Amino acid sequence: MPATVVVGTQWGDEGKGKLTDLLAKDVRVVVRYQGGHNAGHTIVVDGETFALQLIPSGVLYDHVVPVIGNGVVVEPTVLLAECAALAARGIDMSRLVVSGNAHLVMPYHIELDRVTERYLGKAKLGTTKRGIGPAYADKAARIGLRVQDLLDPKIFRQKLDVVLREKNAILAKVYNRLPLDADQIAAKYLDEVAPALGPMIGDSVRLVHEALDAGQQIMLEGAQATFLDLDHGTYPFVTSSNPTAGGACVGTGIGPRDIDRVLGIAKAYVTRVGSGPMPTEVAGEQGDMLVELGHEYGTNTGRRRRPGWLDLVLLRHAVRLNSLSEIAITKLDVLSAFDTVKVCVGYLDRDELYEHVPYHQSVLHRVQPVYRDLPGWRADLSGARTVSDLPEAARAYLDVISEYIRVPVTYAGVGPGREQYVRLAV
Ligand code: IMP
Repeated sequence: MPATVVVGTQWGDEGKGKLTDLLAKDVRVVVRYQGGHNAGHTIVVDGETFALQLIPSGVLYDHVVPVIGNGVVVEPTVLLAECAALAARGIDMSRLVVSGNAHLVMPYHIELDRVTERYLGKAKLGTTKRGIGPAYADKAARIGLRVQDLLDPKIFRQKLDVVLREKNAILAKVYNRLPLDADQIAAKYLDEVAPALGPMIGDSVRLVHEALDAGQQIMLEGAQATFLDLDHGTYPFVTSSNPTAGGACVGTGIGPRDIDRVLGIAKAYVTRVGSGPMPTEVAGEQGDMLVELGHEYGTNTGRRRRPGWLDLVLLRHAVRLNSLSEIAITKLDVLSAFDTVKVCVGYLDRDELYEHVPYHQSVLHRVQPVYRDLPGWRADLSGARTVSDLPEAARAYLDVISEYIRVPVTYAGVGPGREQYVRLAV
């Protein structure tokens, strides 16, 4: 049976965790395919909130095998703390499988992420400072340490010594920082982390293929989102991996023909954390309303997200980049506070109208959004469970989206709870 990809279509925080959790009801294996503990997924079950960083959202169902795929970068102490927190709440963590080919986020990655952001000054990217970029850079440079190296202390130490010599030279000579100690790092990773993580390390590619061969349903869960994609996002204000659906193949070890459903997740408006262009950004009272009503503060960094109206030009581009088969619109309830809601249907730059995303980033930085105003609904949606529970204007809003992007809206989120959504006819 083929796999489903769940992918963010904006700049992250669209509610992928909630949708993955919802769909995981019917799947056997959920694989995270990229990113690291820069992600933060929130799921609310029976009023209890679970905030996940590395572990796939399907973990809350007993029947699911949660997998951290080869495309993820793993900070092992964060992973173990997350496992311990979930285990303390009664969740069986012995099911977790971590790909031996996933790369490790090391202490020098975190240190380098911090100092390079400081060094960039005004040009900083606004990263999460979790070492994600430096870890992926080492992977590409072929000097990364992988999860499987934890199982071979001699290799681990050899690789660490080589790479740390270079990292310490950079930290000391370029950034005037104290060098890191190889013995201390080795002791932490080999004596503390390896015994605890060891039993979870496995061959995730084989596991996924055996599940596919057995006809089991598989879900591939992305972190971050389309416009934070290293290749297709608003470079350089992006993350260092490929959240787009293509990344799901590479980050899991399956081919495109094994995927038959790509579910995009979009908020009913947009938010962005960190620097970079955002044509529909809204300042002032309306922006504050979106932030406060939508609780738009980072799950694990606490940063205030930049708010904006729904950008349909970007969303249509996301449909192409991911070959979306359908889309879920989350947080529709947040827009209930507005008399009029806006969607962006074009960009204006010096009298030139764009109905697609301009390929040159300088243009995207300066475009003005062209809005279409739609009537608001001013109604409490939190109890809506079927289409007929939605006010006419809210349904019209969803129709405008699906007509513009030419992909059906199949879910509408109306609150943080697992059950707070409307399933729309396909
Ligand atoms: P990095 O992934 O920490 O290197 O950060 C690069 C960019 O991606 C920054 O603008 C971050 O704010 C953004 N980013 C990374 N992870 C997330 C996420 O889970 N949600 C939203 N933005 C994110």
